[in-house]
Amino acid sequence: MSNLIITGGSRLCGIIEVPGAKNSVLPVLAATLLNKGTSILENCPELDDVTTMLEILGALGCSIRRKGSRIEVDASKLAASSIPEELAKKMRSSIIILGSLLARCGEVLVSYPGGCEIGLRPIDMHLKALMQMGAQIDGISDGMLRCRAEKLTGCEILLDYPSVGATENIMLAASLAEGETIIQNAAKEPEIDDLQAFLRKMGVKVSGAGTGVIRIQGIHEIKTEPVHRIIPDRIVAGTYLAATAATGGSLVITGVEYDHVGSVLYCLKRCGCRIRNYSGNVIALESSGKLSALDLVRTSPYPGFPTDMQPQLVALLSKCKGTSVVVETVFENRFRYTEQLMKLGADISIQGRAAIIRGTDRLKAAQLEARDLRGGAALVIGALSAEGTSSISGVGYIDRGYERMEKVLSSIGADIKRVET
Ligand code: EPZ
Repeated sequence: MSNLIITGGSRLCGIIEVPGAKNSVLPVLAATLLNKGTSILENCPELDDVTTMLEILGALGCSIRRKGSRIEVDASKLAASSIPEELAKKMRSSIIILGSLLARCGEVLVSYPGGCEIGLRPIDMHLKALMQMGAQIDGISDGMLRCRAEKLTGCEILLDYPSVGATENIMLAASLAEGETIIQNAAKEPEIDDLQAFLRKMGVKVSGAGTGVIRIQGIHEIKTEPVHRIIPDRIVAGTYLAATAATGGSLVITGVEYDHVGSVLYCLKRCGCRIRNYSGNVIALESSGKLSALDLVRTSPYPGFPTDMQPQLVALLSKCKGTSVVVETVFENRFRYTEQLMKLGADISIQGRAAIIRGTDRLKAAQLEARDLRGGAALVIGALSAEGTSSISGVGYIDRGYERMEKVLSSIGADIKRVET
């Protein structure tokens, strides 16, 4: 186990290049199971969740080659169709493999993914859609599901909610289904667009990503050698921008798509940051560190303010002058990390789905515990903004979504180090 030791007070200044997106590389890796050839992915982030996904693909019979941010997956010898339980439990988002594996093998044994710190994380929309396409799904023992489909048939599916994972699972299953699948009320996140781009490179006829209505014309077999570059990680970009806003300083972020972080930049500007957007995917932020509160921010599906930036924003608002309100509309329990922020002296009260934050400039160091990925990132921002030296345990959660966060933050002036406990 390791802890982060952070001494607050340093202004952050420098340049950061954004790595590939965790929430794109995971569904794209799931899509490689559809391919009887070798898929080559570039700009893949080096994260624990990616390692776990590769372990699952390996356990299913794929051969994997990984060199830095380049990953090759040869799924020609895909054998087993049961996802190892211990690996599936390690990473909730492994459920994203269900659609591909069912389409490729016709039968999948998968463990029901556990809930986590931010909510129950049900998969009812995933299962309902796959059953509409002809899958038979039985619960066989505690926590295990058996999914079978002689054949998957394209159909029209209306999602009750624009679920990212359900949209992705349906796109993957539909790629080898007979006929056309139409997804109504589909998620519009940039990661959906990236998955569409990869499926097209494998010869699947798919269109509509980003519009809310996605059409997939299934094909009989995929045997090709696609090469695909994963899009930049908009949440990693937003996290370091929020950290710089909180500490004061100036940060240049390269390799990021401006529109992917548009709603985050809007909030940072309204707090008082100066944002400049240069051509070639370069964004510059300047902050005095003395910022103003935001009366109301509500998280919502893309292009709204992303739920994955909600904890980081609340950490920033904890030191913005005035009272802010943040409403979490996507997950039912995504404020647990605020108990830890309050150890720093943050003044936050939770009322149902709303966090009321009264800004203070007197945050003081404390011993903190990360219990989920983005909540952990919020604690780092809080500690960077606090007087004194804080420690944060549970760094494994942070490593799931941020490549060597302590190295990146040190490179722009933070006083932070990782110590093994
Ligand atoms: C993806 O999770 C992301 N994970 C999450 O990022 C992100 O917060 C979320 O989308 C929303 O943007 C990956 O892409 C790996 P959803 P996902 O299905 O697909 C409910 C991070 O920090 N729901 O859009 O699981 C669900 O409970 C992670 O990187 C159902 O009720 O999210 C939630 O309340 C955290 N039934 C809402 O929908 C279902 O069948 C949105 O979930 C599916 C979802």
